Amino acid sequence: MFKLNNNYLKLPGSYLFSTIGKKVNAYSVANPDKKIIRLGIGDVTQPLAPAIIQALHGAVDEMGRAETFRGYAPDLGYEFLRNAIADNDYKARGCDISADEIFVSDGAKCDSGNIQEIFSLDNRIAVCDPVYPVYVDSNVMAGRTGTYDANTETWSDVIYMPCTAANNFAPELPKETPDLIYLCFPNNPTGATVTKAQLQEWVDYANKVGAVIIYDAAYEAYISETDVPHSIYECEGARACAIELRSFSKNAGFTGVRLGFTVVPKELKCGDVALHGLWARRHGTKYNGAPYIVQRAGEAVYSEEGKTQLKKQVAYYMNNASYIYNGLKEAGFTVSGGVNAPYIWLQTPKGMTSWEFFDYLLENVNVVGTPGSGFGPSGEGYFRLTAFGSYENTVEAVDRIKGVRL
Ligand code: MLT
Repeated sequence: MFKLNNNYLKLPGSYLFSTIGKKVNAYSVANPDKKIIRLGIGDVTQPLAPAIIQALHGAVDEMGRAETFRGYAPDLGYEFLRNAIADNDYKARGCDISADEIFVSDGAKCDSGNIQEIFSLDNRIAVCDPVYPVYVDSNVMAGRTGTYDANTETWSDVIYMPCTAANNFAPELPKETPDLIYLCFPNNPTGATVTKAQLQEWVDYANKVGAVIIYDAAYEAYISETDVPHSIYECEGARACAIELRSFSKNAGFTGVRLGFTVVPKELKCGDVALHGLWARRHGTKYNGAPYIVQRAGEAVYSEEGKTQLKKQVAYYMNNASYIYNGLKEAGFTVSGGVNAPYIWLQTPKGMTSWEFFDYLLENVNVVGTPGSGFGPSGEGYFRLTAFGSYENTVEAVDRIKGVRL
C-alpha cells in the first residue's frame, strides 16, 4: 500500500493566497453587484512594455520557421539572456557574477521553494517573521521544520527572527545558530529594507558560522534610496555564502509570462563540494527550461528601450505606493514600507486582528488586502496593501478605506 508524504499533512490550512482567493470569490458570488478592488496578492496590472511585446512577436515568428525553430533550451538558460543579466544586474553594479553562475528559471517562487532540496534535512532554517510563506511551507513539505504549535503558529525547528516596528522591520542576528538563512529585501510583506552596511553584517555572520543566505531580491527594481543594496553580491564575501533569487515578475510584469533566475556562485561550497554543481544537477534533472520566446522577452528587459519603458512602469506603481502611504497616514493609520518596495504595511486599527480587518474591509468597502498574520505570528495586527493595482483603483481603494468609521 502506498504511503503519503506525511509532512504535507502537517501544513496548517491552504496556501495564504489561495485562502484569500477563496474568501474573495465567495463574497463576490454572494454579492455580484459589488465592485471589489483587489490589492491583496502582489500581482501586476499594467500591460507588458512595447519592447517586450516586440521581442515576443519576433521570437514567435522564429519558432514558426524551420531554420530558426528552437526545441529544448540549454540547461542553465540561453546565453544571450544570462549574458544580459550578468552585465546589467551584476557587472554594472560592481558585482563579480558571471553568466555561468546564473540559472534561468520560470520564476523566483519555484526557485525559493525548490532550493532547499540541495541541503540536508537536518539543517536549521532561520526566517524573518513575518515572511513570504513559500520559504517555510516548502521546508515543512521537506520535513525540516519539526512540529507545529497552533497556539504560537510556529514550528519547533524553525528559528524566527521577528521584524517589528521596534527594529524597523529589520531582523536581528539570531541567538541560535542557523544553517540556512532566508532574507528578502526589499521585504515582502513589510516593504522594509536594510542598508548595505546592515546586509554586510549578515554576510559576515553567515561566513563566520558557516551558514548559507538565500537572498530573495525579487523587488530590487523598486529601490529608490542610494544606500540600499540591489544585490547581496554588493557585499564583500557574499560569493562564499549567498544564493540570490531574482524575478522578472515585479520589475517587468512577467507574473503571467513566468521568468526568473537564481545565482549560485562557484565559490559557495560545503567542504569541497560546490553548491553550483548540485543546483545544476537538480536543474538538469527536474527542469526543462523557460521557453525560448520568454527568454527573448527577458532579454528585451535589458535593451535600452526596455529599460526606459520599465523605469516608467516601476514609477507608475511607486506613485500608487506613495498615494496609499500618504492617504492612509493622513487618515490616521500607522503605515510603513512603500518607499523602496511596492508594499505598504499598516497597523490594523482599534486592536483588530489582521483577519478581522480583512473581513471588515472586504465586507464594508469591498477592498482586498493581505492579513499580516498570514505571513507569520509577528504579522498579527498588520495588513499589507499592494501598489500593483491600476492608479484609478488605488485612488478609489484609498478613498474607500479613508471613509470607514470604525
Ligand atoms: C505576494 O503577493 O506576496 C506575491 O505576489 C507572491 C509571489 O510573488 O509569489
